[in-house]
Amino acid sequence: MCGIVAYLGDKKAKPILVEGLKRLEYRGYDSAGLAVIDHGRLQLVRSAGRISDLESCLAEQELEGSLGIAHTRWATHGAATTENAHPHLDHTGKIAIVHNGIIENFATLKKWLISKGCTFRSETDSEVIANLISLFYYDESQSDQAGPDRGLEIRLETAVRLALRELDGTYGIAVVSSEVPDVLIAARRGSPMVVGLGDGEFIVASDAAAIVKHTTQAIYLGDNEMVVVTRDGYRTITIENDPVAAKIEQIEYSLDRLELDGYAHYMAKEIFEQPQTLADCLKGRLDQTSGQVVLGGIASLSRELVRAHRIGIAACGTAWHAGLVGEYLFEQLAQLPAEVDYASEFRYRNPIIEQDTVFIVISQSGETLDTLAALQEAKERGALVLGIVNSVGSTIARQTDAGIYLHVGPEIGVASTKAFTGQLAVLTMLALYIARRRRMSQQMLEHYIRALRRIPEQISTVLEQSEYIHQVAQEYHQRENWLFLGRGYQFPVALEGALKLKEISYIHAEGLPAAEMKHGPIALITPEMPVVFVAPKSSQYDKVMGNVEEVKARGGIIIAVATEGDETIRDYADHVFTVPDTLEELQPMLTVIPLQLLAYHAALIRGHDVDKPRNLAKSVTVE
Ligand code: F6R
Repeated sequence: MCGIVAYLGDKKAKPILVEGLKRLEYRGYDSAGLAVIDHGRLQLVRSAGRISDLESCLAEQELEGSLGIAHTRWATHGAATTENAHPHLDHTGKIAIVHNGIIENFATLKKWLISKGCTFRSETDSEVIANLISLFYYDESQSDQAGPDRGLEIRLETAVRLALRELDGTYGIAVVSSEVPDVLIAARRGSPMVVGLGDGEFIVASDAAAIVKHTTQAIYLGDNEMVVVTRDGYRTITIENDPVAAKIEQIEYSLDRLELDGYAHYMAKEIFEQPQTLADCLKGRLDQTSGQVVLGGIASLSRELVRAHRIGIAACGTAWHAGLVGEYLFEQLAQLPAEVDYASEFRYRNPIIEQDTVFIVISQSGETLDTLAALQEAKERGALVLGIVNSVGSTIARQTDAGIYLHVGPEIGVASTKAFTGQLAVLTMLALYIARRRRMSQQMLEHYIRALRRIPEQISTVLEQSEYIHQVAQEYHQRENWLFLGRGYQFPVALEGALKLKEISYIHAEGLPAAEMKHGPIALITPEMPVVFVAPKSSQYDKVMGNVEEVKARGGIIIAVATEGDETIRDYADHVFTVPDTLEELQPMLTVIPLQLLAYHAALIRGHDVDKPRNLAKSVTVE
C-alpha cells in the first residue's frame, strides 16, 4: 500500500528518495512521485505506473536540493493517474504533502475549502490536507497563534497542527514548503511513520525498509504525534502542541534479507527458504533439555494465560487462515474455547469480551488497519491482547500487551507464504505452552516438541516436488475455476490454497470444508474442474475419501495432497503431492507448501508478476 520517504540532510535528496521508494515497492502501488525544494523552488515530478516510469521522468531533471518528500500511491480515492499521484500541492503551489491513509471527512472539507477560494487538481482525499495547511499558514489570524516574532518554521508547524486537528480518519504525512526551505514536518495517526536519525541527515519513512541503508537509529512516532525536522535537529510534539519525549530505538532490519539470492522472485525465495525460516522461528523456543516451550515475550503473563477462559483471535486474509488453525489448536491442545474473527468485522458486531479473555491478533506486517482496530476494540473491552507479528517494531507489535515475533525475516512477496508457516508454528507453540500449564502431560508435550523439531526438514522434502507441481500447473493453468477441499485442520489450508491461487494467478478458486461440497458446490463439478483435496492421513481421512469418491463419480479432476506412502488415494487422484507423516495438528505447516508452489507456478505460466499482483498491496493500511 502507499509508502512515504522524506529526506533532509547534506546530500542530494533525489537519489535517496528514489532509492527509498524502491525499498517500498513491495508494498504495492500504482503511481509514484517526489517533490524537492531546489534553489528555493518546489519541483514536483510524478508518474502513473512503476518507479521506473518516474525515473524516466526524472532523467531530465537536475534536482540539486537536499530536502524532499516522495510517495508510492495505491489508489483509493481517484484512479491511478499522474494527477492523483502524490505529492500534492496546495493551491499556491508552495506547500507539498504526501499522505498515507484515508481522510473520511474529505468531501466536507473540500467543499469548505472551495468556498474559501482553494482550487483542486486531483480527485484524492489527500489534496485537502495540502490546502488546509495552506489555509492556516496564510491566515493572518491563525498565524497569531504562533505568536509574534516566531519564524516561518513555527508558522508552518502551527498550520500543520491546526490542519491535522480537522481531519477524521487516518494519516501518515510529510510536509515541505518552499517558503520554509529547511524544515520537514511529519505526523501520524493510525499509519506508521519512522524518523531515521543519520549523521547530519534525517530520513523519515512509513517503513523502516527505506531507512536502514542510512541509519539504524530511529524514532517511531506515536498516534497524534508530529516531528519537526530542521538542519539543526528535531522536535517531537503532539498535534495539541504538547512536547513528547522521543525514544530513540535501534531498527532491527537486515538489508541482506531483502536480496533475491538468485531466485527469480521474492515469492519463490520465500517459499523455498521455509525450512530455514521455520527453524529460525522455533529456535530457542523448544528447550530440548527441560522439555519446555519457552516464549520469552509472554513469560510475564503466564498466570493470566493459564487462567484464561476464552481465546479470541482476529486477523485478515492469510493470517486469518492461520488464526482458524489456531482456533482448532487451542481447543484441541489446551481445551480452551477459541474463536477467530475477521478483524474487519470484529468491531462492527458489538463483540462480547468476557472476563479472562485473551485476545490474539495475528499480522505479518503489523500494520493492517482492520487488525489494529480489532486490537484496540478488544483492549477497550478489557481483554488482554497478545500479538503474533512478523514486523518488529510495527504498530500492532507496539500496541499489544505482549507478543511473540515470528522471526521469519522480512516478507516481500505480496502473497504471504513463510509468514503463514511461521504463524502456524507460533500458534502451535503458544497452544502447547498454555496446554502444559493447564492439563497436558510432560510426556505428551515432549511428543509434540519432537514432532515440531522435524518440521523444517520435512518441509525440505515437500519442496523437492516443485518440478512435478510445475508440470501439474502446466496441465491445468487454463482452467478458470478450482475447488480446494479439506476437513478439520486441512479446511484452513484449503482456504489458503484457494487464496494463493486467486491472488497471483487470477484464477477463480474456492476453499470449502470438504463435507460442505454436497450442500451446493457439487453442482459445479464437471470433467473440466480441478478439485484439490488436502487429505493427509488424519482422524478425518476416511470421511475425506468419501468426498473424493463423490467427485470422482462426477468426473472431476482430482489433485490430492496426501501423506507419503498413501497408495489408496492414488487410485482416485489424477495427481498426488505428498507430505511426510507428522502429528495431525502440525500437518498444515506441510500441506500448505505444495499449494503455495501450485499457485506460484500457475501464475508464472500465465505470465503474471507474482511479486506484484494486480490491485494488491502488501500491507493494507486502509479500512
Ligand atoms: C495473502 C495476504 C493477505 C494478508 C492480509 C493480512 O497472501 O498476504 O491476505 O495475509 O492482508 O496481512 P497482515 O498479515 O500483514 O496483517
